[in-house]
Amino acid sequence: MTSNDQEHWTHVYEGKAPTEVSWYQASPEPSLRALSRFGAHPSSAFIDVGGGASNLVDALLEQGWQDITVLDIAAPALEAAKSRIGPMADRVHWEVADITEWTPARKFDVWHDRAVFHFLTEPKQHVAYRQALLKGLAAGALAIVATFALDGPERCSGLPVRRYDPASLADALGESLQLIDAWREVHVTPWGAKQAFNWCAFRRVG
Ligand SMILES: C[S@@+](CC[C@H](N)C(=O)[O-])C[C@H]1O[C@@H](n2cnc3c(N)ncnc32)[C@H](O)[C@@H]1O
Repeated sequence: MTSNDQEHWTHVYEGKAPTEVSWYQASPEPSLRALSRFGAHPSSAFIDVGGGASNLVDALLEQGWQDITVLDIAAPALEAAKSRIGPMADRVHWEVADITEWTPARKFDVWHDRAVFHFLTEPKQHVAYRQALLKGLAAGALAIVATFALDGPERCSGLPVRRYDPASLADALGESLQLIDAWREVHVTPWGAKQAFNWCAFRRVG
């Protein structure tokens, strides 16, 4: 990532309401279902990487999750989430950072990435993402990563993406992450377009 990427995403969130972007979902059901299915619970230390202005954090606060971090490259995305949530936002750790330049200072039990990794198209970005992931994940921790599927869009938000199936995503994330399950989801954008997603759940091994 470069400062251009930060400018790009900052500009996106300055120009559009969170409900107007293609990745908006009225309810973060796919993520909530996955968290519950793989045994994550409100006392798990959780990070939403590239969480943007997603309302996943609202749902987790409502469920009583106590250790939530939301990281994003775009400050206005996090500001939008904070002002929507109100005083409860003080219970969340908000981090403005580029995941490919960020070194976690602690371990998490759950790493969640919906529609972020697929923007990293350069090998060196994968290396940097993996470094953050491995440093930030406790042994046995869960990682839920959702990217566009092989038949998903080729671009998003004006940027090229890489598309994955479970095998290629597992390969990109490296052997310290063991693929435990994968499934497809068709996301419908606010204007009714369909986007095929590849969701994968991994355990940190080794
Ligand atoms: C398609 S949006 C998905 C947002 C959120 N995960 C959701 O599901 O609503 C991609 C998000 O990744 C963030 N992003 C892009 N590149 C990033 C990077 N290198 N580090 C951190 N965040 C990044 C963007 O600002 C944006 O919020």
